[in-house]
Amino acid sequence: MGNKTLAIIKPDAVGDKNTGKIIDMILEAGFIINAMKMIHLTKSSAQGFYAVHRERAFFNELVDYMTSGPCVPIALERDNAVEEFRKLIGATDPAKAAEGTIRKLFAKNIQFNAVHGSDSDENAVKEISHFFSNDELINIK
Ligand code: CMP
Repeated sequence: MGNKTLAIIKPDAVGDKNTGKIIDMILEAGFIINAMKMIHLTKSSAQGFYAVHRERAFFNELVDYMTSGPCVPIALERDNAVEEFRKLIGATDPAKAAEGTIRKLFAKNIQFNAVHGSDSDENAVKEISHFFSNDELINIK
């Protein structure tokens, strides 16, 4: 059970002016921000980040979506971070997400789903390094 995860506030949520509300929910849930930035992903960076999905029918649409505007990757810390963050965001498809979760509140559908969260401790480490160098990760405790 690791204590790091990567969140991304995706372009739809940023465009809808929900960035602040989502960050507030993350902090209220007890996560500590180790690093955060706003970036407009390039096609090759989005393809690399989602390489695990490259054979899926929705891959090109996913890359178009993630490069459609700026997004906000956030390196997060708390006990059992991956599982706790996935509880906070809810199911990938907002129609199946629990009441009060970030996706239930802010996602439009299974694709435009407002936020990303790492799915394992191993992927959390890889995904954090996709966006942040070690120098950028702040340890506040
Ligand atoms: P995320 O948790 O970032 O992981 C992969 C992303 O692919 C997912 O959120 C959605 O944005 C997108 N996605 C997953 N399933 C589908 C689907 N069936 N159709 C379109 N997009 C999807």
